Amino acid sequence: MAKIVSFKMKNIILRPLCVQNPTCSAVKALVCSMSSSANSDAPLKSTTPALPPKTSPVATLTVSGKQFEKDSYTNITPTIIKQMSRKLHQQKCHPIYLIKERIVSYFYKKYIGRTGNPVFSVYDNLDPIVTTHQNFDSLLVPHNHSSRLKSDSYYLNSNYMLRAHTTAHQSDLIASGLDNFLIVGDVYRRDTVDSTHYPVFHQCDAVRLQTQHELFPEEYGLNVFEKKPDRRTDDKQAEHTVDAVRILSYQLKTTLQDLAKALFGQDVEYRWVEAYFPFTHPSWELEIKHNGEWLELLGCGIMEHQIVAKAGAGDRIGWAFGLGLERVAMRVYDIPDIRLFWSTDPSFTKQFTVDDPHTPIKYQPVSVYPICVNDISFWIPPEGEFNSNDFFDIVRSVGGDMIEEVSLVDQFLHPKKMMKSHCYRITYRHMERTLTKNEVNKVHNEIGCKAVEALGVDLRVK
Ligand code: PHE
Repeated sequence: MAKIVSFKMKNIILRPLCVQNPTCSAVKALVCSMSSSANSDAPLKSTTPALPPKTSPVATLTVSGKQFEKDSYTNITPTIIKQMSRKLHQQKCHPIYLIKERIVSYFYKKYIGRTGNPVFSVYDNLDPIVTTHQNFDSLLVPHNHSSRLKSDSYYLNSNYMLRAHTTAHQSDLIASGLDNFLIVGDVYRRDTVDSTHYPVFHQCDAVRLQTQHELFPEEYGLNVFEKKPDRRTDDKQAEHTVDAVRILSYQLKTTLQDLAKALFGQDVEYRWVEAYFPFTHPSWELEIKHNGEWLELLGCGIMEHQIVAKAGAGDRIGWAFGLGLERVAMRVYDIPDIRLFWSTDPSFTKQFTVDDPHTPIKYQPVSVYPICVNDISFWIPPEGEFNSNDFFDIVRSVGGDMIEEVSLVDQFLHPKKMMKSHCYRITYRHMERTLTKNEVNKVHNEIGCKAVEALGVDLRVK
């Protein structure tokens, strides 16, 4: 949900990939951890950083039972660490779980193999802690891409982070021998705070790889790959033929149009928009009309051949897509605020207690509690970089789910002092009860203190 577009960027120049192939043992370890759910939380050898040298004590951080050396990149917060254990996509009778089940059941029915079994397999228990190589380099994300900034992602240290998209596992799963798979999981992005943005949300990614033989029966006389790599154009990569891209994009688009119909009803209005992702070309976004407005539903495209070949499937061409589950669930069930997904209040959870994920449900708001609005203004420290996302994180850590929205309402530069001032408006509202003025003031003051302490700002009203 939060900034679903963050992996897009137009007109960028790809820099060479940093070569850091997963070793055979790393791939084996990954496959083991996927196939045995009992072991899936056990630390993988390949992801355990080296112990610090005895002579210089290094600060460490323990997340999901694994130790990480802290460095200048570390910006993960205790609130986020706590949320990692919730795994909403695995909680039966949770709207995120129900949407996952509906997507999975659509793919199971749509693609059936020779023996009558589903062709796609589902991975919904992969560790959200990934390397920056998995999240970015393996997907050709350029070194200067904004999603790599500390202000946009949650880092354990400069090598490990919380995945910012489930696409992070794509290369490893292909390298382990899979051709058709879905990945479902929690993803983490630092972002603004409002009713549709939350730093943790859920995605479903898919990959389908096909060989020459599977795509074109011999008698067609058509080829998937150019004999000699051709020119890369707006319509195709150098390695692929026009015929292959045409048939693959037809498959991809009809599959996703039908998925949108399965989720939103046969009459849903949709349109295709050209897009850019570093890991697919050509790329598109599917938008659907909801309550009179176009809504971006998912990103997709023909997989970059370089990624597929590097993962050991160079004889195949593939399509991939990624979709945000909260976006879908909010529309399908009429859920007005993204924070509701995190509610443990039975008046919310009870409404999604159904055996069949296809049961039609419309969320009934229990009641709406009043909002309380407070502003906070401060001078930004003259030296060093200040990013609003650092402040949003503090607000969220201190205020938790009492925070409905934070927005920058005013900023100016003092002409004499040459100092910058920011004013943020914080809207407080609890989903489950009325907040008292005292309670809000206490939290508001604490946010101010934390901002002074952690960001070095100077409060304008003390
Ligand atoms: N990972 C992309 C995102 O989070 C979505 C995507 C996945 C696009 C796979 C293309 C292919 O925005």
